[in-house]
Amino acid sequence: MTPFLITNTTLSSSSSSLYLSFLFLQNPKKPNCLTSHLTSHLNCSIQDNVSLSSLQQTLTLESKNEIERGLEFQTGDSFFRHESAIGRDLGVLAASLYKKSKGNLRILDAMCGCGIRSLRYLVQAEADFVWANDANEEYRGIIVSNFEKEVVRETEKGKRRWVVTHSDANRVMAECYLKEDFFDLIDIDSFGSNSTFFRSAYDCLKFDGLLYVTSTDGYSSGGHRPQHSLASYGAYVRPMPYSNEVGLRMLIGGAVRDASVLGYRVTPLFSYYSYHGPVFRVMLRVIRGKLPENKHYGFISYCNKCGNSQTFLWDQLGKICCHCGNEEVPSGLDLSTTLRMLLKC
Ligand SMILES: C[S@@+](CC[C@H](N)C(=O)[O-])C[C@H]1O[C@@H](n2cnc3c(N)ncnc32)[C@H](O)[C@@H]1O
Repeated sequence: MTPFLITNTTLSSSSSSLYLSFLFLQNPKKPNCLTSHLTSHLNCSIQDNVSLSSLQQTLTLESKNEIERGLEFQTGDSFFRHESAIGRDLGVLAASLYKKSKGNLRILDAMCGCGIRSLRYLVQAEADFVWANDANEEYRGIIVSNFEKEVVRETEKGKRRWVVTHSDANRVMAECYLKEDFFDLIDIDSFGSNSTFFRSAYDCLKFDGLLYVTSTDGYSSGGHRPQHSLASYGAYVRPMPYSNEVGLRMLIGGAVRDASVLGYRVTPLFSYYSYHGPVFRVMLRVIRGKLPENKHYGFISYCNKCGNSQTFLWDQLGKICCHCGNEEVPSGLDLSTTLRMLLKC
């Protein structure tokens, strides 16, 4: 598959109160009231035995009926955005192609919200099995009822089609790795920076599997938090006129760096930027192999005098100047460590 890049042109800085209210769930090291009291969180056989009628009692009055690409579902109080439909479409298309070429498809939807993404993987990509997880236990009723209306829990031969759990995504993936339970596709639809999940995701992904990662960190892509982007992605991002593209490269660069540590090579299959959030999504193909050549991993410069952009490799550091003659580094030349993949190269 040829890598391609999809971007919307507008950048929105809006962040709803709903968005902020969920951020606390992101840090696995700080368990909160929702995650701390989870008992035997991965014991699906126990959790899934709860009857649909008792679960439906937990659905709130605010639950809304929605239809996405022909599938009906409810959102309850979960975090759901219509604007994310294209990101879900792309995930389903990639999954569907994967299933056609490999014949099997086991998916982990590590942060499933109301479960629409998982449901679409089951119905539209014909996934053999989907593990839907969300740290928020209160979404359980809505997720299970959405699934039960469309897909049987077990095939006639007794094979599970789906399970629903409520735990920190890193914990789920670490447990799967220990049990040698591997997935063909892992979708991590998180808030903020996603890099804390990269390593555990690689560990429980099959070779040649797909990893669908996310960033909603518009401050970092805009170059407003270089220390933060450095910590999360190893990229010291400065303000650039093409920050939406830089956001995608920053995410890919972080994923490439973490994969290299573990001896994996990743190839971006597609990248998608959307203004809401903003949301940066990248589908990566993960294989084992030699470390990638540095020609795709380096620096992007932007000249504040003439507006020219260039790329530089690590061994060109120290020789950086602009064609216009500007040799002032860094005051006149903004240098962002980020991945050059998909740029002019
Ligand atoms: C962007 S929403 C997911 C939306 C959903 N995938 C969709 O397509 O509609 C992110 C979800 O991640 C969950 N979450 C946040 N931190 C988590 C963590 N560390 N582990 C698992 N789930 C988490 C939140 O409860 C929230 O439902």
